[in-house]
Amino acid sequence: MAEIGTDIEKARALLVAGELVAIPTETVYGLAGNALNISAVTKIFEVKGRPQFDPLIIHLRDFNSIQAYTTDVPENAKLLADRFWPGPLTLLLEKKSVINDLVTSGLNTVGIRCPDHVLTHELLKSLPFPLAAPSANPFGYVSPTRPEHVDEQLGNKIAYILDGGVCSVGVESTIVGFEDDIPVLHRLGGLTLEKIESIIGKVKVQVNSSSNPKAPGQLKSHYAPQKKVILGNLKELIQQYPGIPGILSFQEDFQLSFQCILSPSGKLDEAAQNLFSALRSLDKMPIDIILAEPVPDVGLGKAINDRLRRAAG
Ligand code: TXA
Ligand code: MG
Repeated sequence: MAEIGTDIEKARALLVAGELVAIPTETVYGLAGNALNISAVTKIFEVKGRPQFDPLIIHLRDFNSIQAYTTDVPENAKLLADRFWPGPLTLLLEKKSVINDLVTSGLNTVGIRCPDHVLTHELLKSLPFPLAAPSANPFGYVSPTRPEHVDEQLGNKIAYILDGGVCSVGVESTIVGFEDDIPVLHRLGGLTLEKIESIIGKVKVQVNSSSNPKAPGQLKSHYAPQKKVILGNLKELIQQYPGIPGILSFQEDFQLSFQCILSPSGKLDEAAQNLFSALRSLDKMPIDIILAEPVPDVGLGKAINDRLRRAAG
């Protein structure tokens, strides 16, 4: 088990020494290491069991520090960063050579974001390097939104988990890249498409549900619990399924023994915040299948439905 605490100085010292620390962000917990230290970056891939073809994103304290790591920043990227950083938005930008190919899996762009969490912001301010950090879960599994989630799965592989409480957003950042300065959304996430389009106009959405070498987070099966997940109309699924299912509903109470309700009052932000905890709880229940329903496909609901589809593989 890792030590869990709020000691920023301890986290800082471990990171400076090239060790890994789990850090809180507003989206999910990250498994962080010095992005400029090859051995720390290598450890991230090892601890997560992540293939090296899946690039990492780097975390900075503010927009001003991106100049050191990127060549040219499209106008639309500036507009988005100005409006939404710190926040759940990752921008794919052309990298300078100071960012090693290992971080970006050989791509010439690097994913960058400024997380909106007071502890991690303080930590980043105290460090002379950016933090590379994927979600702090074994590759392919559900992302962690509480320190205990990290500890359960990676606790014996890392020294320290910086405890920032429950992640306020609960789904990963939205990823936006640029093709000839034209914005392309690669992963639905904590910042809604509607909010992005309100700043830069229509955005091309290219969220593949198949294997895509550009962003393996888009693999069809990802963010998945161990138990099989079936997505559909819950009333019908419950009738069809003969065994003892676990139920993941948006707001309805099905009065069954094993169920999680994402938001009894039907709020999408609350549903997003509870999503990964609910999948983890259901995974531990004495059931052999998880039956789930999509949420309304607007705003944050789009990211929730994306994660539910991938959980269902
Ligand atoms: O909210 C988040 O983004 C969290 C917190 C910890 O910041 N991080 C996170 O990282 O979700 P990760 O590694 O689990 O997911 C990042 C995704 C991966 O699917 C990766 O393939 C994609 O971003 N990615 C990273 N760099 C990329 C690049 N240069 N081009 C395309 N995709 C990239
Ligand atoms: Mg991840």
